[in-house]
Amino acid sequence: MNTFFNFFIKSLKQIAKIIEKWYEENKRDLPWRNSPSAYKIWLSEIILQQTRINQGISYYNKFIEKYPAIQQLAQAPIEDVLKLWQGLGYYSRARNLHITARRITNDCNGNFPSDYKELLSLNGIGEYTAAAIASMAFNIPVAVVDGNVFRVLSRLYGIKTGITSAAGKKLFRLKAQEILNHKKPGIHNQAMMELGALICLPRNPLCNQCPLNMRCYAYKYRLVNELPVKKVNGKTRERYFHYLHISYRGSTFIHKRQQKDIWNSLFEFPLIETSHYIYPEKLHETEAWHHLLGETQYKF
Ligand code: ADE
Repeated sequence: MNTFFNFFIKSLKQIAKIIEKWYEENKRDLPWRNSPSAYKIWLSEIILQQTRINQGISYYNKFIEKYPAIQQLAQAPIEDVLKLWQGLGYYSRARNLHITARRITNDCNGNFPSDYKELLSLNGIGEYTAAAIASMAFNIPVAVVDGNVFRVLSRLYGIKTGITSAAGKKLFRLKAQEILNHKKPGIHNQAMMELGALICLPRNPLCNQCPLNMRCYAYKYRLVNELPVKKVNGKTRERYFHYLHISYRGSTFIHKRQQKDIWNSLFEFPLIETSHYIYPEKLHETEAWHHLLGETQYKF
């Protein structure tokens, strides 16, 4: 039993070592990796949740140029922050960025907490970002689990549990924590993500170049294209948005979204939403149309 346990631990350590060595030799030169700080790690991770790496770098550089330190971000008007965020979408991330910058500046003397649970209590910081900051900035041994890590783990160990299920998420978190190198959690976490981003790709992964191919379950059993298993979340619903471009005496109508829904507080053209497709010519028959335009005279 003891021998088996030792063998098991040794194999985990070997895998971690292989991934980290590969990372040191192949990692991308990303601006936040040069002089990492909790602020830079946080900012980059929030941006990267919205976009791909190339575009993310340009947004990151713009933010750092304008707000080199968290205090400057905290003092900026929210409109400026939203303007800089423009193009990334999902503006609540930018609002949370600002709220958290203020909280860290006002309540924590400008220093991020180094405790995972405290990080989790900050606006816009979920399990993934808290783990990234804790491990990369403070060397705390907590594994990050993002889409890249799901993919690497499910293929490496042949895990067929769906990644969208609660059981799947728990299993992957445990597995990621199990192979984590406690001595270098920041490097290890980045190495896992980098392997997923550069080699263990969603489609056409570069298995020939993968340092783990001889140990990979999916590679051995030709299951690379089957893993990870993604089950469509049954809660998704279709929504049809019909926007009206209404002009009146040289002005165009827009309105601000107020509901607790996507794009909260953003401006848009007057909208008629339906749960099924309808032809544009039929829109004027809907109740929403009458609610919006009432007896107003209009012409197409
Ligand atoms: N994707 C998101 N964050 C990343 C990181 N820190 N390293 C590699 N890929 C990432």
